[in-house]
Amino acid sequence: MCGIVGYVGREDCVDILVDGLQKLEYRGYDSAGIAVIQNNQIVVKKTKGRLSDLTEKMKEEGRPKGFCGIGHTRWATHGEPSDINSHPHGNKRISIVHNGIIENYREIKEFLIAQGYGFESETDTETVAKLLDYYYEGDPVQTIINVIKEVRGAYALGIVFRDFPDKVFAVRKDSPLIVGTSENGNFIASDVPAILKYTRDYYLLEQNEIATLSADGVKFCDMYKNEIKKEIQTADWDLDAAEKGGYEHFMLKEINEQPTAIRTTISPRIVDGMPYLEESGMTKEMLKNYRRIFIVACGTAMHAGLVGKYVIEKMARVEVTVDIASEFRYRDPLIQKEDLVILISQSGETADTLAALKLAKERGATTMSVVNVKGSSIARESDIVVYTHAGPEISVASTKAYAVQLSIMYLLAFELAYAKGVISEEECRRLTKELENIPEKIEEILVLKERCQFIASRLVSSESLLYIGRGLDYALSMEGSLKLKEISYIHSESYAAGELKHGTISLITEDMPVIAVATQSDLFEKTLSNIKEVKARGAKVTMICREGTEDDKSVANHLVVLPNMDDVMMPMLALVPMQYIAYYTAVLKGCDVDKPRNLAKSVTVE
Ligand code: AGP
Ligand code: GLU
Repeated sequence: MCGIVGYVGREDCVDILVDGLQKLEYRGYDSAGIAVIQNNQIVVKKTKGRLSDLTEKMKEEGRPKGFCGIGHTRWATHGEPSDINSHPHGNKRISIVHNGIIENYREIKEFLIAQGYGFESETDTETVAKLLDYYYEGDPVQTIINVIKEVRGAYALGIVFRDFPDKVFAVRKDSPLIVGTSENGNFIASDVPAILKYTRDYYLLEQNEIATLSADGVKFCDMYKNEIKKEIQTADWDLDAAEKGGYEHFMLKEINEQPTAIRTTISPRIVDGMPYLEESGMTKEMLKNYRRIFIVACGTAMHAGLVGKYVIEKMARVEVTVDIASEFRYRDPLIQKEDLVILISQSGETADTLAALKLAKERGATTMSVVNVKGSSIARESDIVVYTHAGPEISVASTKAYAVQLSIMYLLAFELAYAKGVISEEECRRLTKELENIPEKIEEILVLKERCQFIASRLVSSESLLYIGRGLDYALSMEGSLKLKEISYIHSESYAAGELKHGTISLITEDMPVIAVATQSDLFEKTLSNIKEVKARGAKVTMICREGTEDDKSVANHLVVLPNMDDVMMPMLALVPMQYIAYYTAVLKGCDVDKPRNLAKSVTVE
């Protein structure tokens, strides 16, 4: 969600803080602020709004100067976005930035008020700042230890003390934070892109480890002040990957990166023409012995799981249940030791998915995560990790992460089907080859952007639209509908085409466009009938179909025709026009495509 950056070193820190926060803008935020130690005083600048509002404010009020500071972009959870509620919080002695939620902040606040403290903001964060002040007796690490013993909830904290003008302190629990290190100074950050310009070397901070950063080095200790030696990690993402590289938006860049992302994700998992997931620790023997598979995730990642369900059940004949993580964790799910629970997450930090993972582990199931961010919490906590290699996904709307998540679902389905003897080795090889052909086919489809742009121009003035499809097309259109609504703000629903007549068809008028995904040959005739039903009631229909099935052109007002592949592979192709249609509709409406309103990239709160 929000972003944290901190720096102490030989350079002026304001530029580094603002630049780092800019790299984290994709995570979504509503306010920004920094605290800098200047001439042994803490100087705070903060404001509601964008980072540009903060730099504007610093132009008017004066820009602090110093070599040690912390910065924050806030995504409000407690108290509206306002100047006062913005971070940093604290007083003259201590200043903090916080990501997460302090669950027992009310009790702490009451206690502190009784001790004579006053509060100016409505945030939970300010209680931590004041509690630090309450415990402070000259030893910052001891103060932090005393505080984290008392707070409940999730936190990543960056802290500066006036009395220690050349140090930044940090601690985290259940919210992400890394510690970057370089010859020119040391950093804290919510995510790797914030520090890539300065260094690729970083440490992963574990739960409740306390980091003390100075210009010359970083020290870590646990809650008993025992020193901890940590291994340096090296980011394999380069800076270009986190820049727009000539594209108008990150989303467009990321849509176009899909062929490379899929190649990089699948090639290490295909050995001698056969799927090979064993390097992750998932052997064929294990795979075929699970009683049931649960797939648990949120948003787009959950939609990847839905396609996974159709493909795994169809190919391997194993029962798969797909759950929204926030539902799964509270529905007392019937998981047993013999089950496999797959968690899918781009960020690896989604709070609900992480909680679902913990629940599955408690109940003894094997947990396997499909995650894009190396060393993220979900990756670290699961028994088996299969990393997707999409590179950093900056746009809030997920595109390339979805594509690579799907490609792992396919490899898993093929391997499982073969391990269970449902398909022959020959068939498994043929399907794996088909998957290897996907990036090239997507490259062919990427040129359809003008067609999609035209279709977007027909949708842009609608208030509402429907996606329809059957089987895999239905699973896929769930994602098409989410993509469109999240970035263009046009209300949209995805419906199983056969279900329309049970109620929803009453919504159809000429003002309700319909996008029909019809790529499954065995269901094509059925979907065609549903298209005719909505067309007869005035709907303007866009049909996404495959070569050879578009003959009856009169059936739809607009067509997007995809190359032919096996039915089962078609979602990997049909995802592109859906992403393009959402993207161009949002662009035509003048929306902030990469940072849609109210949304955050990584949802680290419940
Ligand atoms: C995708 O476009 C969304 N912004 C969102 O649904 C996202 O997929 C979801 O929050 C899950 O995130 P994760 O993959 O990082 O766990
Ligand atoms: N809970 C804190 C607040 O509302 C931090 C939110 C965040 O993670 O940005 O200010």
